[in-house]
Amino acid sequence: MPLVSMRQLLDEAAKGGYGVGAFNVNDMEQIQAIMGAAKETNSPVVIQASRGARAFAQDRYLFHLILAAAELNPEIPIAMHQDHGNSFETCKSAIELGYTSVMMDGSLKEDGKTPATFEENVAVTKKVVDFAHERGVTVEGEIGVLGGVEDGHGAGGTGLEHITDPDQAVEFAELTGVDALAIAIGTSHGAYKFTKKPDGSVLKMDVLIAIHKRLPNTHLVMHGSSSVPKDLQDVINEYGGKLKETWGVPVEEIQLGIRNGVRKINVDTDNRLAMTGAIRKVLWTQPEKFDPRDYMKPAREAMQKVVALRMKQFGQAGHAGDYKPIAITEIAKGYKDGSLVTKPLVAAR
Ligand code: 13P
Repeated sequence: MPLVSMRQLLDEAAKGGYGVGAFNVNDMEQIQAIMGAAKETNSPVVIQASRGARAFAQDRYLFHLILAAAELNPEIPIAMHQDHGNSFETCKSAIELGYTSVMMDGSLKEDGKTPATFEENVAVTKKVVDFAHERGVTVEGEIGVLGGVEDGHGAGGTGLEHITDPDQAVEFAELTGVDALAIAIGTSHGAYKFTKKPDGSVLKMDVLIAIHKRLPNTHLVMHGSSSVPKDLQDVINEYGGKLKETWGVPVEEIQLGIRNGVRKINVDTDNRLAMTGAIRKVLWTQPEKFDPRDYMKPAREAMQKVVALRMKQFGQAGHAGDYKPIAITEIAKGYKDGSLVTKPLVAAR
Protein backbone atom coordinates (compact mmCIF):
# COMPACT_ATOMS: atom_id res chain seq x y z
CA MET A 1 0.00 0.00 0.00
CA PRO A 2 1.34 3.48 -0.74
CA LEU A 3 1.70 5.82 2.22
CA VAL A 4 -1.70 7.30 3.03
CA SER A 5 -2.83 10.74 4.04
CA MET A 6 -3.14 11.08 7.81
CA ARG A 7 -6.39 12.93 7.19
CA GLN A 8 -7.89 9.81 5.60
CA LEU A 9 -6.57 7.64 8.43
CA LEU A 10 -8.07 9.92 11.11
CA ASP A 11 -11.37 10.42 9.25
CA GLU A 12 -11.71 6.62 9.19
CA ALA A 13 -10.83 6.43 12.89
CA ALA A 14 -13.55 8.99 13.64
CA LYS A 15 -16.07 6.92 11.65
CA GLY A 16 -15.04 3.80 13.56
CA GLY A 17 -14.87 5.55 16.94
CA TYR A 18 -11.27 4.54 17.68
CA GLY A 19 -7.90 6.21 18.21
CA VAL A 20 -4.67 5.69 16.27
CA GLY A 21 -1.28 5.48 17.98
CA ALA A 22 1.42 7.69 16.46
CA PHE A 23 4.75 6.14 17.33
CA ASN A 24 8.10 7.93 17.07
CA VAL A 25 10.98 6.37 15.19
CA ASN A 26 14.72 6.96 14.84
CA ASP A 27 15.97 3.70 13.38
CA MET A 28 15.19 0.48 11.55
CA GLU A 29 14.46 -1.63 14.62
CA GLN A 30 11.78 0.77 15.86
CA ILE A 31 10.10 0.82 12.43
CA GLN A 32 10.20 -2.98 12.33
CA ALA A 33 8.75 -3.19 15.85
CA ILE A 34 5.83 -0.93 14.86
CA MET A 35 5.18 -2.85 11.66
CA GLY A 36 5.39 -6.17 13.50
CA ALA A 37 2.74 -4.91 15.90
CA ALA A 38 0.58 -3.45 13.11
CA LYS A 39 0.69 -6.76 11.22
CA GLU A 40 0.02 -8.80 14.36
CA THR A 41 -3.03 -6.69 15.28
CA ASN A 42 -4.11 -5.66 11.73
CA SER A 43 -3.86 -1.94 12.57
CA PRO A 44 -3.53 1.26 10.57
CA VAL A 45 -0.72 3.35 12.02
CA VAL A 46 1.04 6.72 12.10
CA ILE A 47 4.83 6.56 12.02
CA GLN A 48 6.34 9.87 13.06
CA ALA A 49 9.77 11.46 13.09
CA SER A 50 10.82 14.49 15.10
CA ARG A 51 13.41 16.95 13.84
CA GLY A 52 15.87 15.22 16.16
CA ALA A 53 15.08 11.85 14.58
CA ARG A 54 15.51 13.24 11.08
CA ALA A 55 18.90 14.63 12.06
CA PHE A 56 19.97 11.45 13.88
CA ALA A 57 19.02 8.99 11.12
CA GLN A 58 19.44 11.38 8.17
CA ASP A 59 16.38 12.15 6.07
CA ARG A 60 17.00 9.76 3.19
CA TYR A 61 17.69 6.76 5.45
CA LEU A 62 14.58 7.31 7.54
CA PHE A 63 12.37 8.03 4.55
CA HIS A 64 13.45 4.89 2.71
CA LEU A 65 13.10 2.74 5.83
CA ILE A 66 9.48 3.89 6.15
CA LEU A 67 8.92 3.30 2.44
CA ALA A 68 10.27 -0.22 2.96
CA ALA A 69 7.71 -0.68 5.74
CA ALA A 70 4.93 0.30 3.31
CA GLU A 71 6.31 -1.92 0.55
CA LEU A 72 6.58 -4.98 2.81
CA ASN A 73 3.17 -4.48 4.45
CA PRO A 74 0.77 -3.60 1.62
CA GLU A 75 -2.27 -4.40 3.77
CA ILE A 76 -1.42 -1.78 6.43
CA PRO A 77 -2.36 1.92 5.95
CA ILE A 78 0.65 3.99 7.10
CA ALA A 79 0.80 7.78 7.41
CA MET A 80 4.31 9.26 7.57
CA HIS A 81 4.23 12.28 9.85
CA GLN A 82 6.64 15.06 10.85
CA ASP A 83 6.37 15.42 14.64
CA HIS A 84 6.75 18.96 16.09
CA GLY A 85 7.83 20.93 13.04
CA ASN A 86 9.24 24.21 14.40
CA SER A 87 8.94 26.32 11.24
CA PHE A 88 7.46 26.57 7.77
CA GLU A 89 10.83 25.43 6.36
CA THR A 90 10.91 22.23 8.45
CA CYS A 91 7.40 21.30 7.33
CA LYS A 92 8.13 22.21 3.71
CA SER A 93 11.23 20.00 3.71
CA ALA A 94 9.23 17.05 5.10
CA ILE A 95 6.51 17.55 2.48
CA GLU A 96 9.06 17.77 -0.32
CA LEU A 97 10.67 14.58 0.96
CA GLY A 98 7.36 12.69 0.73
CA TYR A 99 5.82 12.83 4.23
CA THR A 100 2.03 12.56 4.02
CA SER A 101 1.44 14.64 7.14
CA VAL A 102 3.18 17.36 9.14
CA MET A 103 2.77 18.94 12.53
CA MET A 104 3.39 22.67 12.60
CA ASP A 105 3.97 23.32 16.29
CA GLY A 106 3.48 27.07 16.25
CA SER A 107 2.71 27.08 19.97
CA LEU A 108 6.45 27.71 20.34
CA LYS A 109 8.66 30.10 18.45
CA GLU A 110 11.13 28.73 15.91
CA ASP A 111 13.67 28.06 18.69
CA GLY A 112 11.31 25.29 19.85
CA LYS A 113 11.43 26.63 23.41
CA THR A 114 9.78 30.04 23.79
CA PRO A 115 5.97 30.18 23.79
CA ALA A 116 4.66 32.08 20.74
CA THR A 117 1.73 34.49 20.66
CA PHE A 118 -1.66 33.32 19.35
CA GLU A 119 -1.24 35.55 16.29
CA GLU A 120 2.23 34.16 15.50
CA ASN A 121 0.91 30.61 15.86
CA VAL A 122 -2.05 31.27 13.54
CA ALA A 123 0.14 32.95 10.89
CA VAL A 124 2.79 30.22 10.60
CA THR A 125 0.27 27.36 10.86
CA LYS A 126 -1.95 28.88 8.16
CA LYS A 127 1.08 29.25 5.88
CA VAL A 128 1.87 25.54 6.33
CA VAL A 129 -1.79 24.56 5.80
CA ASP A 130 -1.90 26.44 2.48
CA PHE A 131 1.32 24.82 1.25
CA ALA A 132 0.45 21.32 2.51
CA HIS A 133 -3.17 21.14 1.40
CA GLU A 134 -2.26 22.18 -2.13
CA ARG A 135 -0.19 18.98 -2.16
CA GLY A 136 -2.73 16.75 -0.38
CA VAL A 137 -0.70 16.65 2.84
CA THR A 138 -2.36 16.69 6.28
CA VAL A 139 -1.57 19.32 8.92
CA GLU A 140 -1.68 19.03 12.69
CA GLY A 141 -1.48 22.27 14.68
CA GLU A 142 -1.03 22.90 18.39
CA ILE A 143 -2.76 25.35 20.67
CA GLY A 144 -1.68 25.68 24.28
CA VAL A 145 1.81 24.50 25.24
CA LEU A 146 2.84 21.02 26.40
CA GLY A 147 5.25 20.53 29.26
CA GLY A 148 8.62 18.82 29.13
CA VAL A 149 11.24 18.65 26.42
CA GLU A 150 11.53 16.03 23.67
CA ASP A 151 14.61 15.83 21.47
CA GLY A 152 15.49 19.38 22.50
CA HIS A 153 11.99 20.63 21.58
CA GLY A 154 9.68 21.95 24.28
CA ALA A 155 9.02 24.73 26.74
CA GLY A 156 9.91 22.53 29.76
CA GLY A 157 7.84 22.86 32.91
CA THR A 158 5.05 20.67 34.22
CA GLY A 159 2.46 20.89 31.47
CA LEU A 160 0.07 22.87 33.67
CA GLU A 161 1.47 26.25 32.69
CA HIS A 162 -0.26 26.75 29.32
CA ILE A 163 -3.44 24.66 29.29
CA THR A 164 -5.49 25.15 26.11
CA ASP A 165 -8.31 27.68 26.32
CA PRO A 166 -11.36 26.12 24.56
CA ASP A 167 -12.38 29.48 23.02
CA GLN A 168 -8.92 29.89 21.52
CA ALA A 169 -8.98 26.31 20.25
CA VAL A 170 -12.17 27.05 18.28
CA GLU A 171 -10.76 30.30 16.89
CA PHE A 172 -7.45 28.65 16.01
CA ALA A 173 -9.08 25.73 14.18
CA GLU A 174 -11.35 28.09 12.28
CA LEU A 175 -8.59 30.53 11.30
CA THR A 176 -6.01 27.94 10.24
CA GLY A 177 -8.05 25.07 8.75
CA VAL A 178 -5.86 22.40 10.38
CA ASP A 179 -6.93 18.77 9.99
CA ALA A 180 -5.95 17.78 13.52
CA LEU A 181 -5.40 19.77 16.67
CA ALA A 182 -3.00 19.00 19.51
CA ILE A 183 -4.17 20.45 22.80
CA ALA A 184 -2.43 20.98 26.12
CA ILE A 185 -4.26 19.28 29.01
CA GLY A 186 -1.42 18.85 31.50
CA THR A 187 0.62 16.15 29.80
CA SER A 188 4.30 16.55 29.04
CA HIS A 189 6.87 14.74 26.96
CA GLY A 190 9.26 12.27 28.54
CA ALA A 191 9.21 9.88 31.49
CA TYR A 192 8.65 12.43 34.28
CA LYS A 193 5.07 13.59 33.76
CA PHE A 194 3.44 13.18 37.18
CA THR A 195 4.70 12.52 40.70
CA LYS A 196 1.67 10.39 41.55
CA LYS A 197 -1.18 8.75 39.64
CA PRO A 198 -2.71 11.81 37.92
CA ASP A 199 -6.15 13.07 38.91
CA GLY A 200 -8.23 15.99 37.57
CA SER A 201 -5.97 18.52 39.29
CA VAL A 202 -3.09 17.75 36.93
CA LEU A 203 -4.65 15.94 33.96
CA LYS A 204 -7.39 18.16 32.57
CA MET A 205 -9.71 15.73 30.80
CA ASP A 206 -12.55 18.20 31.48
CA VAL A 207 -10.79 20.72 29.19
CA LEU A 208 -10.47 18.09 26.47
CA ILE A 209 -14.17 17.24 26.74
CA ALA A 210 -15.10 20.95 26.62
CA ILE A 211 -13.01 21.41 23.45
CA HIS A 212 -14.55 18.36 21.80
CA LYS A 213 -18.05 19.70 22.53
CA ARG A 214 -17.12 22.94 20.77
CA LEU A 215 -15.22 21.25 17.92
CA PRO A 216 -16.99 17.92 17.37
CA ASN A 217 -15.58 17.49 13.87
CA THR A 218 -11.92 18.30 14.61
CA HIS A 219 -9.57 15.39 15.21
CA LEU A 220 -7.93 15.97 18.59
CA VAL A 221 -4.38 14.84 19.32
CA MET A 222 -2.99 13.82 22.70
CA HIS A 223 0.75 14.37 22.98
CA GLY A 224 2.84 13.11 25.86
CA SER A 225 0.64 10.02 26.10
CA SER A 226 3.04 7.40 27.32
CA SER A 227 1.72 5.53 30.32
CA VAL A 228 5.25 4.94 31.72
CA PRO A 229 4.26 1.52 33.13
CA LYS A 230 5.85 0.48 36.39
CA ASP A 231 6.95 -2.90 34.97
CA LEU A 232 9.01 -1.17 32.26
CA GLN A 233 10.58 1.15 34.85
CA ASP A 234 11.35 -1.87 37.05
CA VAL A 235 13.24 -3.76 34.32
CA ILE A 236 15.51 -0.75 33.76
CA ASN A 237 16.19 -0.31 37.47
CA GLU A 238 16.67 -4.02 38.08
CA TYR A 239 19.51 -4.09 35.59
CA GLY A 240 21.50 -1.09 36.74
CA GLY A 241 19.29 1.81 35.65
CA LYS A 242 18.45 4.77 37.87
CA LEU A 243 14.94 5.95 37.02
CA LYS A 244 13.14 7.93 39.70
CA GLU A 245 9.59 6.90 40.57
CA THR A 246 7.17 8.45 38.08
CA TRP A 247 3.68 8.19 36.56
CA GLY A 248 2.44 8.59 33.01
CA VAL A 249 -1.01 8.98 31.46
CA PRO A 250 -3.25 6.06 32.49
CA VAL A 251 -4.61 4.15 29.48
CA GLU A 252 -8.18 4.54 30.79
CA GLU A 253 -7.79 8.36 30.56
CA ILE A 254 -6.64 8.00 26.94
CA GLN A 255 -9.68 5.80 26.29
CA LEU A 256 -11.89 8.51 27.80
CA GLY A 257 -10.19 10.93 25.40
CA ILE A 258 -10.91 8.61 22.46
CA ARG A 259 -14.60 8.63 23.40
CA ASN A 260 -14.34 12.44 23.23
CA GLY A 261 -12.74 13.16 19.89
CA VAL A 262 -9.11 12.07 20.36
CA ARG A 263 -8.01 10.34 17.15
CA LYS A 264 -4.20 10.49 17.35
CA ILE A 265 -2.23 9.47 20.42
CA ASN A 266 1.51 10.16 20.52
CA VAL A 267 3.69 7.57 22.20
CA ASP A 268 7.48 7.58 22.32
CA THR A 269 8.72 7.23 25.90
CA ASP A 270 7.07 3.83 26.57
CA ASN A 271 8.90 2.39 23.56
CA ARG A 272 12.20 3.93 24.65
CA LEU A 273 11.74 2.40 28.11
CA ALA A 274 10.89 -1.03 26.68
CA MET A 275 13.95 -1.08 24.39
CA THR A 276 16.35 0.24 27.01
CA GLY A 277 15.14 -2.29 29.60
CA ALA A 278 15.64 -5.18 27.16
CA ILE A 279 19.12 -3.98 26.20
CA ARG A 280 20.14 -3.45 29.83
CA LYS A 281 18.94 -6.92 30.72
CA VAL A 282 21.11 -8.61 28.08
CA LEU A 283 24.21 -6.54 28.82
CA TRP A 284 23.80 -6.92 32.61
CA THR A 285 23.07 -10.65 32.67
CA GLN A 286 25.33 -11.70 29.79
CA PRO A 287 28.31 -9.33 29.94
CA GLU A 288 30.24 -11.52 27.53
CA LYS A 289 27.90 -10.54 24.65
CA PHE A 290 29.10 -8.03 22.07
CA ASP A 291 27.05 -8.70 18.93
CA PRO A 292 24.49 -5.86 18.65
CA ARG A 293 21.92 -8.36 17.37
CA ASP A 294 22.02 -10.12 20.76
CA TYR A 295 20.47 -7.05 22.40
CA MET A 296 18.71 -5.32 19.49
CA LYS A 297 16.51 -8.34 18.79
CA PRO A 298 15.08 -8.47 22.36
CA ALA A 299 14.81 -4.66 22.27
CA ARG A 300 12.76 -4.80 19.07
CA GLU A 301 10.57 -7.56 20.54
CA ALA A 302 9.99 -5.58 23.73
CA MET A 303 8.92 -2.51 21.75
CA GLN A 304 6.63 -4.59 19.49
CA LYS A 305 4.89 -5.94 22.60
CA VAL A 306 4.18 -2.43 23.94
CA VAL A 307 3.01 -1.11 20.56
CA ALA A 308 0.70 -4.10 19.94
CA LEU A 309 -0.85 -3.62 23.38
CA ARG A 310 -1.45 0.09 22.75
CA MET A 311 -2.98 -0.67 19.34
CA LYS A 312 -5.51 -2.94 21.05
CA GLN A 313 -6.14 -0.44 23.86
CA PHE A 314 -6.62 2.50 21.45
CA GLY A 315 -9.04 0.45 19.33
CA GLN A 316 -7.21 0.66 15.99
CA ALA A 317 -6.59 -3.11 16.02
CA GLY A 318 -8.57 -4.93 13.35
CA HIS A 319 -9.19 -1.82 11.21
CA ALA A 320 -6.36 -1.99 8.66
CA GLY A 321 -8.56 -3.50 5.96
CA ASP A 322 -11.56 -1.20 6.40
CA TYR A 323 -10.68 1.11 3.52
CA LYS A 324 -8.66 1.60 0.36
CA PRO A 325 -6.05 4.36 0.24
CA ILE A 326 -7.04 7.56 -1.53
CA ALA A 327 -4.18 8.95 -3.63
CA ILE A 328 -2.61 12.11 -2.22
CA THR A 329 -3.44 13.89 -5.52
CA GLU A 330 -7.13 13.08 -4.97
CA ILE A 331 -6.89 14.36 -1.39
CA ALA A 332 -5.43 17.62 -2.77
CA LYS A 333 -8.47 17.96 -5.05
CA GLY A 334 -10.74 17.43 -2.06
CA TYR A 335 -9.14 20.36 -0.21
CA LYS A 336 -9.41 22.52 -3.33
CA ASP A 337 -13.05 21.82 -4.15
CA GLY A 338 -14.12 21.97 -0.50
CA SER A 339 -15.29 18.35 -0.25
CA LEU A 340 -12.69 17.84 2.50
CA VAL A 341 -13.95 20.42 4.96
CA THR A 342 -11.31 21.97 7.19
CA LYS A 343 -13.30 24.78 8.79
CA PRO A 344 -14.89 23.14 11.84
CA LEU A 345 -17.77 25.58 12.19
CA VAL A 346 -18.72 24.95 8.56
CA ALA A 347 -18.52 21.21 9.19
CA ALA A 348 -20.75 21.54 12.25
CA ARG A 349 -23.57 23.25 10.36
P1 13P B 1 5.71 10.62 25.35
O1 13P B 1 7.03 11.21 25.78
O2 13P B 1 4.70 10.62 26.45
O3 13P B 1 5.86 9.27 24.75
O4 13P B 1 5.11 11.57 24.22
C1 13P B 1 5.58 11.52 22.89
C2 13P B 1 5.04 12.63 22.07
O5 13P B 1 4.08 13.31 22.42
C3 13P B 1 5.67 12.87 20.76
O6 13P B 1 5.24 14.05 20.15
